[in-house]
Amino acid sequence: PRILVLHGPNLNLLGVREPDHYGRDTLADINRRLETQARAAGCELSTLQSNAEHVLVERVHECLTDSTAFILINPAAFTHTSVALRDAISAVKVPFIEVHLSNVHAREPFRQHSYFSDLAVGVICGLGAQGYELALAHALTRLAARR
Ligand code: DQA
Repeated sequence: PRILVLHGPNLNLLGVREPDHYGRDTLADINRRLETQARAAGCELSTLQSNAEHVLVERVHECLTDSTAFILINPAAFTHTSVALRDAISAVKVPFIEVHLSNVHAREPFRQHSYFSDLAVGVICGLGAQGYELALAHALTRLAARR
């Protein structure tokens, strides 16, 4: 099975961007660990980071034909703004987990609404980069149960 990891805007700056909120791991560090974890379970994992809403929307559309079985997504700032990305992920009907590095509920009020959470299998926030690994562990368990 194929798993897609989507990273929203500014996450290319991880490692240098506000480390008190987002930690010191780079996006490459995170992706590398996820690839290793997926491979060990016999799953294919692809990753995409974009600062552009339409690039993420169009990558989600590709799930209609590329047999993506599960998505991990940190929509970053688009969490709080993007009806378009929400509609895309809703349209393709691929189950997903929403991940945030920081605990968005302990921050500014505008970060406390998500356009994704009500559609998600689950939401992980505040656990830093480990949140992605925990989300992937859950996805792998689900996919194994289906086989
Ligand atoms: C974030 C939280 C968002 O509010 C913020 O805009 C981000 C990152 C997180 O991972 O904690 O860019 O999604």
